[in-house]
Amino acid sequence: MPEPLLEMTGVTKSFGGNCVLSAIDLALWPHEVHALVGENGAGKSTLMKILNGVYTMDSGSIRLGGSELRITGPHDARKAGISMIFQEQILANDLTVAENIFLGMEPKRPSGLLDNHKLNVVAQEVLERHNFHVQATSRVASLTRAERQLVEIARALATTARIIVMDEPTAVLSQKESEELFRIIAELKAKGLAIVYISHRMEELERLADRVTILRDGKRVFAGERAAIDAAGIIRHMVGRDIHELYPQLPEPGTEIVLAVNGLACGSEYRNISFELHRGEILGLAGLVGAGRTAVARGIFGLDQPTAGAVTLRGKPANFQSTGAAIAAGIGYLTEDRKGVGILPDMAVTQNISIAALDSMSKGPVLNLSEEARRCGELVTKLKIKTRSSSMPIGRLSGGNQQKALLARWLFAGSSILLLDEPTQGVDLGTRAEIYLLMKEIVASGGSILMISSDLPELLGMSHRIGVMRRGELVTMLPGAGAANGATQEQVMSFAA
Ligand SMILES: Nc1ncnc2c1ncn2[C@@H]1O[C@H](COP(=O)(O)OP(=O)(O)OP(=O)(O)O)[C@@H](O)[C@H]1O
Ligand SMILES: [Mg+2]
Repeated sequence: MPEPLLEMTGVTKSFGGNCVLSAIDLALWPHEVHALVGENGAGKSTLMKILNGVYTMDSGSIRLGGSELRITGPHDARKAGISMIFQEQILANDLTVAENIFLGMEPKRPSGLLDNHKLNVVAQEVLERHNFHVQATSRVASLTRAERQLVEIARALATTARIIVMDEPTAVLSQKESEELFRIIAELKAKGLAIVYISHRMEELERLADRVTILRDGKRVFAGERAAIDAAGIIRHMVGRDIHELYPQLPEPGTEIVLAVNGLACGSEYRNISFELHRGEILGLAGLVGAGRTAVARGIFGLDQPTAGAVTLRGKPANFQSTGAAIAAGIGYLTEDRKGVGILPDMAVTQNISIAALDSMSKGPVLNLSEEARRCGELVTKLKIKTRSSSMPIGRLSGGNQQKALLARWLFAGSSILLLDEPTQGVDLGTRAEIYLLMKEIVASGGSILMISSDLPELLGMSHRIGVMRRGELVTMLPGAGAANGATQEQVMSFAA
């Protein structure tokens, strides 16, 4: 076997006395995809942020190509040919796509001035080479979350790298864009790069990984060839138990129509959207990124104002002008954009969970704090939200745990109609099973769920019916889980693409 390209040895890290990585070893070889797996909060992102100079380790060493590498900041990592696609997007919203891709290494004219034209041309080339349909001159703020993810990927690929870390790169990508990424990964691997791939999607690990390192509570519990361990083995190491059934059997939905959407339209984003959601039903919404699914959910929730069409709630007009009105009517919306509009990063976990239901927690102007704490505590336990204390700022939780806390917000609010936009993005397998059980409980007790998801197995496994959107239109409605003629992934894709 040749020399490893990179060796991390004995890497240890604590935050405020709380040890999150203890003596981790990780070796990367050229031409490999190395999967780094573990439950939410296991320490994956922290380990990779150390490699990329975002955090400094308390002890341990890093060797690159046989010699000691000192990483004191992101610049050192980039210079050494190490780049990272971060789990939490780091693009600057006010800059253009091109400016973000080349931030810190912009092409200059001989005069030393920034060559804007060249910047745009080169950035557009990078985007097109990877089949990313994004304009280099667009402002990042105007992009969808998925488009921003493509820019993050382009940014990591624009520098000549030896090691690329991808921290849940497909969490917000649709199948089609993920395929494009997998093609890029194969190319990079053939060129001799080492890729660290973090994902909670087993099928991706099975398909991509050459070797696997499994972390559990900040400790390495397995490292070896991918072929030496099967999916069940990976799960057992990660979770400490077997998961037999990911998708529970859903009860039959009722016949009562709780939400009806009629001819809803909003500018160029979507048009002529009509569907009905029944009591006790989970309606899945499939589609490629940019198909308009999130925009429809935002329109129903009153985040944006549709330009035509009607929404009715149990027979009453419900074109909400504000999210407050939608929440009061019993609608909850779990956003896909947890960093942008979801979490209040500096506020405590508890406050993030209770914020949509403060009315129910107060008598007049007084908030019943002990009741708030008790109910939040229940949800933290139920969803296994890993936090040192419920008063910790939510921004310090790992990605998957932030996601769980956002979901808890709507469970806390007791909304009878839930619009869930990518509900399990970044959530580990063990907890996903819990979330699916919760969704089943919600519909079994008369709630209804509209679920947008780019995870096709999840859509197929957890929806009574699946609506497929393409370019702003709802093109078909397919039977989902439990139906004798339930849709297949191929069927959904053929309508979506
Ligand atoms: N800046 C910070 N301050 C305090 N604690 C932190 C900080 N960053 C991470 N942690 C803690 O370190 C632990 C590991 O977090 P990390 O983000 O590495 O998990 P992860 O394996 O990437 O999880 P996920 O799959 O949810 O993304 C968590 O308990 C987290 O709360
Ligand atoms: Mg992480």
